[in-house]
Amino acid sequence: MKIDKKLQSLPLTKSNPKTIESLFGQSDITPMWVADMDFAIAESIQNALTERIADSGFAYEYKPESFFKVQKDWYQKQYRLDLKNEHIVFSPTITTTIAVIIENFTNEIDGIIIQPPVFMEFRDVIRKTKRKIVKNALKLVDDHYEIDFSDLEEKVSSENNKILILCNPHNPVGRVWTKKELEKIVSICKRNDVILISDEIHKDIVLFDNKFTSVLSFAEEWNKMVVCTSEAKTFNIPGISDAMAIIPSESIHNSVKDIFGKYNLGRTNALTRVALETAYKEGEIWLKDLIKTIEENVNIVDQELRKNNSKIKLVKPEGTYQVWLDFRDVFTDTKEMFNYITKNSGIGMNAGHWFGREGALFMRMNIATSPEKVKKAILSIIKVENQ
Ligand SMILES: Cc1ncc(COP(=O)(O)O)c(C=O)c1O
Repeated sequence: MKIDKKLQSLPLTKSNPKTIESLFGQSDITPMWVADMDFAIAESIQNALTERIADSGFAYEYKPESFFKVQKDWYQKQYRLDLKNEHIVFSPTITTTIAVIIENFTNEIDGIIIQPPVFMEFRDVIRKTKRKIVKNALKLVDDHYEIDFSDLEEKVSSENNKILILCNPHNPVGRVWTKKELEKIVSICKRNDVILISDEIHKDIVLFDNKFTSVLSFAEEWNKMVVCTSEAKTFNIPGISDAMAIIPSESIHNSVKDIFGKYNLGRTNALTRVALETAYKEGEIWLKDLIKTIEENVNIVDQELRKNNSKIKLVKPEGTYQVWLDFRDVFTDTKEMFNYITKNSGIGMNAGHWFGREGALFMRMNIATSPEKVKKAILSIIKVENQ
């Protein structure tokens, strides 16, 4: 995989000096935190974008049938699912979609269930929409995260709780929920008339022999679901990407469409359109290479931890390009862990507690970079672990 040659010169969030100083308390860190990649995008996408810009302008655009077709073809080929145009709505970001669903299908006294440790924007959007955060914390059994189904049943069946937000594949713990697990989740939501939001942004980055199943496979049994996804993570284009919501229920779909219409959300961005169409048509080989590199990087982390008899444990990811590192045998205080590891290793990772207190004493490392950089980073961490 080719590394992005402009990493040092672009104003990237991951290396924004102000953000780094405020999060890490120092400026000289190697950023391995924000969930985007160090890789250059597929050459076909580069060429298509360049070609779109040359000798042209940016008049208003609409989404032509080809825009829908590539996405439908992708879902058919990868997941054997038939996407329907009438189920799709476009939104600027996944978080926008989640906020709109929460605000329009629940009231301020209602509870929204999340499964921490989980992507922090879920918690933040519930706070911002003034709803109640209800936790169905994941259980760590040996080195494998599982859903606490009896607790989930209890939370979903409580009258005040109206939405469950699922993250599949799960950021940050890397689980790719199995068909059986999803079947159980859908049936619990159905029994209790709870809307299921499934954030599937990492769907295409599934590692080793794991298999991704979308909750859309169960839409005939329970259609009160909103699947949020985009091409941002898959093809490393979050800086120009939109998000898509797939909503099989006609009434929910129509309400969301009306609200998006009211705020004029979902305008076609010409560069997004070109990048997306090209990515889904021609990006599969690049994606295969990416997955191979991520798997190699997971193995590097695993091998180096073992070889060096580290007390840090790897929770092996089934999907995403993050590794979730367990420091519970090294530290007893999560802030001390974060400060010590950051300061002494110089590696800027996400502290686990940023994903909820259930993530205390863990750290998330972004491994969407070169194997050399991953090896150097994990060795720097192992070295200071023993000091
Ligand atoms: C699970 C998950 N959902 C959503 C996002 C961000 O999506 P958006 O920028 O479209 O809100 C991320 C980014 O890291 C993520 O990990």
